Amino acid sequence: MTDTDQLVIRGLRVAPVTAPEHEILQGIDLEVGPGEVHAIMGPNGSGKTTLAYALMGHPGYVVTGGKITWKGRDVLKLSPDKRSRLGMFLAFQYPTAIPGLSVASFIRSALNAKLQGVDKTTDVDPTDSMRGGVSMGDFRKRMREKLALLRMDETFVTRYVNEGFSGGEKKRLEMLQMAMLEPEMAILDETDSGLDIDALRIVAEGVNAMLNPTLGVLLITHYQRLLNYIKPDVVHVLAQGRIVKTGGRDLALRLEEEGYGPILREAGLETNVSDEALAVPLGPELEPAEVH
Ligand SMILES: Nc1ncnc2c1ncn2[C@@H]1O[C@H](COP(=O)(O)OP(=O)(O)OP(=O)(O)O)[C@@H](O)[C@H]1O
Ligand SMILES: [Mg+2]
Repeated sequence: MTDTDQLVIRGLRVAPVTAPEHEILQGIDLEVGPGEVHAIMGPNGSGKTTLAYALMGHPGYVVTGGKITWKGRDVLKLSPDKRSRLGMFLAFQYPTAIPGLSVASFIRSALNAKLQGVDKTTDVDPTDSMRGGVSMGDFRKRMREKLALLRMDETFVTRYVNEGFSGGEKKRLEMLQMAMLEPEMAILDETDSGLDIDALRIVAEGVNAMLNPTLGVLLITHYQRLLNYIKPDVVHVLAQGRIVKTGGRDLALRLEEEGYGPILREAGLETNVSDEALAVPLGPELEPAEVH
C-alpha cells in the first residue's frame, strides 16, 4: 500500500460557516486504507456528521486547519462533485427528498458524471459504451443486478428520490447509490433514530455485499450492534471534536458495556452530562442468521 492509496486526514479543524470561530472539529487525525473498515462512534453532538460533511466538502462548513489527501490529491481543493468523481461517497444520516426527480435519472446522472472522472475528460462519452460510457441497456442491466443484490423491487427506481420514503427505504436508496457508483471511499453516516431491524439489516447486508479490497469504509454509527454484522478493522471514539480513543472491535464492546463516560474521563474530558446520556444505544436485536 502506498501513501496515496490511503485517505489521510491530518490535524483537521472544522467550523460552521456561520460561526467560523466556533470550531466543532479540533484536530482530527485519521488514515483509512483500501479494504479497511473504520467505525466512528461518539456521543450525540461530538462532531461525527461534521467530519463526514467536511470530507465531502459541504458548503456549510469551513476547514480552519489541517489537510486531507487521497490518491495524490489535495482533497480540500476539490469541489464536492470532484470528490465524488474521485471515488468518494457519502450516505447521509438524514437523506433529502428531491420531488420530481426519479431514482433512475438521479443515479444515471451521477454515474455519467463520475465516468468522466475528476478532470472531466472529454475522451469519455458517458452514453457511449465504445467511449468509456455505459449504454442505457447496460445501465438497466447493472441497475437490475444491484437491485437484486440489495433485494429491492424494480419499481423502486421509478419513484422520486426519497419522496415519501420510509426510513428503511431511504437507507436502501443510499445503499443502491453506493452499489451503482462503486466508490472507493464510502462514508456512511448512520441515523440514530427510527432505525428498525429492517433498516439495520439493509445497511449491514448492503455494506457487506459491497466490501472489496479497493473499498475503504468510514462507518459512523450509534449502535455497537451494527458492528457485530459489519466487522470493523478499527474503532474510533470521537468526543468533543477530537478522536479520544482508537482500538479494535473490543473497544466497541467496551462502549456497549460502559457507555462513553469512562473513556471520556480517561481522556481527561469534562462531561457535564449524565452517564445515562452517555450510554451506547444497543439498537434493535438482529439475529446473525438474518444477515447474509
Ligand atoms: N452548521 C452548524 N452551525 C452551528 N452549529 C453546528 C452546525 N453543524 C453542527 N453544529 C454543532 O456542532 C456539534 C456537532 O454536530 P454534529 O452534527 O457533527 O454531531 P454528531 O456527532 O453527528 O451528532 P449525532 O450523534 O447527534 O448525529 C453540535 O453541537 C452541533 O449543534
Ligand atoms: Mg450526526
